[in-house]
Amino acid sequence: MTGGGRQSGARARLGGQSSVDPKTEDKSAPCPSSSGLVVEVSGVSTRFAGNLVHDDVSLAVGRGEILCLVGGSGSGKTTLLREIVGLLAPARGEVRLFGRPVLDPDPRARVGTRRRFGMLFQQGALFSAFDVFDNIAFPLRELRLLDEDLIHDLVHIKLAMVELEARHARLMPAELSGGMVKRVALARALSLEPELLVLDEPTAGLDPDLADSFVRLIGSLQKQLGFTVLMVTHDLDTLAGLATRVAVLAERRIIADGPPDEVIEVDHPFIRSFFCSEHARAAMRRK
Ligand SMILES: Nc1ncnc2c1ncn2[C@@H]1O[C@H](COP(=O)(O)OP(=O)(O)OP(=O)(O)O)[C@@H](O)[C@H]1O
Ligand SMILES: [Mg+2]
Repeated sequence: MTGGGRQSGARARLGGQSSVDPKTEDKSAPCPSSSGLVVEVSGVSTRFAGNLVHDDVSLAVGRGEILCLVGGSGSGKTTLLREIVGLLAPARGEVRLFGRPVLDPDPRARVGTRRRFGMLFQQGALFSAFDVFDNIAFPLRELRLLDEDLIHDLVHIKLAMVELEARHARLMPAELSGGMVKRVALARALSLEPELLVLDEPTAGLDPDLADSFVRLIGSLQKQLGFTVLMVTHDLDTLAGLATRVAVLAERRIIADGPPDEVIEVDHPFIRSFFCSEHARAAMRRK
């Protein structure tokens, strides 16, 4: 259960030989990870001035998994996600996405990797000066490959996917409810049809009904589209509703990693207090 198998899988991949000739390889082209792992975090340490946030963190996510990362406030969950998507370089260790270093020195390879995942930040983070349509269209326009008619159609498909209506397309972010902001941010994260969706506290700030319906939406899109999910959450209902695996970040490292019903049995003070209520334990066992 500890995830040791997956982690050693990640290490084996790091030591493995590539069958691709580096001289002829198109670094911007999608390439499947030979290990089948979508995310490989290997021996990552992170330090901000005197503050050691991660100490030798390893974590791997396989294709089609929904991995929920939990941990106390300030334990370094968002920082780890930022390292995983290449927004921050760890002090030590490496992150690979789809079998390639996320911080590949080749800018074409980095762009190729960037197009294969979508990210929903902790605050929803829409561009406040853009309306709903232009927010969702942003990654499509960045490609510089699609004409405006096609972008129009694609934006409306994404709006429908997140259960918003065409009439919402011209609203500004300030005119949206909290739940709508999350849906637009999700539509934007899905605009390039990513293989990996990275979510940081997707239900934070939503009331329980809205949170429930947003979790159901993510679950049903994941079933339809088959993408891999890496999600930070502290919300037990979200965990119980979605997670195929749970990893726990505490004391600067991953202290438990496995199926939800096994992780809740791990004897550690953080895990005991996080999953303390009978309601929580019953919900996790139903998974
Ligand atoms: N850019 C930064 N510069 C300095 N310190 C930082 C920076 N980003 C994060 N930290 C510190 O790293 C630690 C982990 O922060 P992080 O935001 O990753 O925690 P978290 O687990 O996501 O917390 P929360 O559950 O509250 O969102 C905190 O001590 C934070 O102050
Ligand atoms: Mg955070």
